[in-house]
Amino acid sequence: MGRMKIEIAPSILSADFCNLERDLKRIENADLVHVDVMDHHFVPNLTIGEPVVKRICEVTDLKVDVHLMIDDPDRWAPGYAELGADSVTFHMGATHAPVRLARQLHDMGCEACFAVRPAEPVEPIFDILDEFDTILVMTVEPGFGGQKFLANQMGKVRRLRDEITRRGLKTNIQVDGGVGVKTAPIVAEAGANILVAGSAVYGAENPGDAINEIRDAAAAAYRD
Ligand code: DX5
Ligand code: ZN
Repeated sequence: MGRMKIEIAPSILSADFCNLERDLKRIENADLVHVDVMDHHFVPNLTIGEPVVKRICEVTDLKVDVHLMIDDPDRWAPGYAELGADSVTFHMGATHAPVRLARQLHDMGCEACFAVRPAEPVEPIFDILDEFDTILVMTVEPGFGGQKFLANQMGKVRRLRDEITRRGLKTNIQVDGGVGVKTAPIVAEAGANILVAGSAVYGAENPGDAINEIRDAAAAAYRD
């Protein structure tokens, strides 16, 4: 299997919500835009929902990666595929029928990503791994930007990458939380190939430069 491409997905959680169109233009050299949807129930924070995500899909040329941190994604995820998301992520701790939901999203032409929180194991996903395009290993407790990277999640990323390689699958491994220039080599070396970065991109003077720096730092350390 050839090397998988490193992709950078800036999270607009750290953008200016009153200037979203401007802030989307600042990340044009990214591979995806990561949109965090929170519901005050699954996580103790509230962000945006369908109407705003719909406008984001309309104004950006980037692929839109919707990260649902909400209860009952079985009910709500298809709506995001319908309005134009390219990929929808739902959490192990919230989803009742992940295989059914993944297949439903695929039928709508949308990629399916399954997420685990720091205390959730990745091994239970192994038997249904071929149902998903991407597995997201959270590297912070979900809910807020700007938290400290949890290096103790790297064993999980490594075991997942080894399983994917062993079976010759093309599954992406995404990491989200505390990722920046310093931690990018750590996650890439462990086997992650999609890196979400919020504060490291939007907290930088030039978000475009920050994206390139994170991508280069990860590419130098990535293993297949
Ligand atoms: C946190 C969100 C992340 C967040 C990451 O629950 O899922 O996408 O924006 O922010 P940073 O990169 O600042 O840790
Ligand atoms: Zn996220």
